[in-house]
Amino acid sequence: MSFTRRQVLGGLVGLGVVGLGAGGARYWLGRPFDRKTHDYELIAAPHDIELVPGHVTPAWTFGGQAPGVELRCRQGDELRVRFINHLPEPTTIHWHGIRLPLEMDGVPYVSQAPVLPGEFFDYRFVTPDAGSYWYHPHESSAKQLGRGLVGPLIIEERDPTGFQHDRTLCLKSWHVDEEGAFTAFSVPREAAREGTRGRLSTINGVSLPTLELPTGQVVRLRLINVDSTITYRLNLSGGEARIYALDGNPIQPRPLGKEYWLGPGMRIDLALKVPAAGSEELSLRNGPLRLATIKPVASSEPSAEWPPALPPNPVAEPDVERAETLRFNFEWAASLASPADEAAGRYKYWQINGQAWDINDKTCADRPIAKLKKDGHYIFVLRNMAQYQHPIHLHGLIFKVLDSNRRKIEPYYTDTFLLGKNETARIAFVADNPGVWMFHCHVIDHMETGLMAAIEIA
Ligand code: C2O
Ligand code: CU
Ligand code: CU
Repeated sequence: MSFTRRQVLGGLVGLGVVGLGAGGARYWLGRPFDRKTHDYELIAAPHDIELVPGHVTPAWTFGGQAPGVELRCRQGDELRVRFINHLPEPTTIHWHGIRLPLEMDGVPYVSQAPVLPGEFFDYRFVTPDAGSYWYHPHESSAKQLGRGLVGPLIIEERDPTGFQHDRTLCLKSWHVDEEGAFTAFSVPREAAREGTRGRLSTINGVSLPTLELPTGQVVRLRLINVDSTITYRLNLSGGEARIYALDGNPIQPRPLGKEYWLGPGMRIDLALKVPAAGSEELSLRNGPLRLATIKPVASSEPSAEWPPALPPNPVAEPDVERAETLRFNFEWAASLASPADEAAGRYKYWQINGQAWDINDKTCADRPIAKLKKDGHYIFVLRNMAQYQHPIHLHGLIFKVLDSNRRKIEPYYTDTFLLGKNETARIAFVADNPGVWMFHCHVIDHMETGLMAAIEIA
């Protein structure tokens, strides 16, 4: 696998018109070659795309495409991204699932000032964990993610794995009508329920694509749910597929089984044994709905066996015996929105332990919902008091899912856990990354109407 060390991505404008000082540009253009860093320039800008054949959708893109350009880095190396904002409004980039220093986490007013139109921000951090991740703004999320600002981030394993073939598949449903025009990204009565769904389902920006894969080969499919609302019930009936990693973190490989529920923000790495050429096409589905057709095409390579399990990421093992337990209730709270709030477009439908996050209040993170001791061991009991499921995400850390009152769980590491209807689950982790970390539901409508909090580690 090869990729350019330095790639200039997205190109409505050159650096010259960005308004950078020459010094800023020189820093990037003149730096010595160094194989341990991976440098990108990434531009967010309005860009027309074609989602509905023959129609234009006025998207916002990273690097001129939606989903955004795939960024790659090798585990343990440094990723450097000069991010340039050519949108008409402030934004940031958050690196979902990456354990990094707080200043690089991309949450406006918490870890950095928003990047204003015409300005840039240099993100740089070492990537400790291999796996499938993604990036997105943490500002005006319903609109910015809805318009297309989402992209894959792949951290390659330090040493070669048994996989020869690798495909990234970003799942997103667009809020567009039959002519490609945007419809509302967030509708209050939907925000108070499961969230506002887009109508047009796509993989890598294409509706119902056909994926041509080499016959007899084992292909690593990195499925990334970059959608704002939908939990995909993934299945590949008739296909031979095994799960190798969940949300970036390797597991002991096991068959995909009947269905895997991939909530917003979550990822699954599958190994698919591509059937013989000429055999029937496979369908990747969301429940009964087809997402893509998989078409085996001739390959001259000898047919392959299942690769060994992927090496685990260097995550500290929490000691559940001595861990301190904290409880978090995720509740519905429609009564919180006063008529005045609603008239002003401020809705609060959700809360954590009786507290609703207010996306218009820039000081919320000054009042963390919990303060943890650096290097302490913690168990969080997550209790969903509602009829709608919540993919619960924690920034800056990887946690271990221990158990649930609703289903049998083989403990595994993740950054996003899909908490089902009325489910109570326990997660545990070592608080080894100091900072103020967002803790929220990744259904964007829920997050923007209260279901977010800050966890402080000091
Ligand atoms: Cu991918 Cu705070 O989120
Ligand atoms: Cu995140
Ligand atoms: Cu939710």
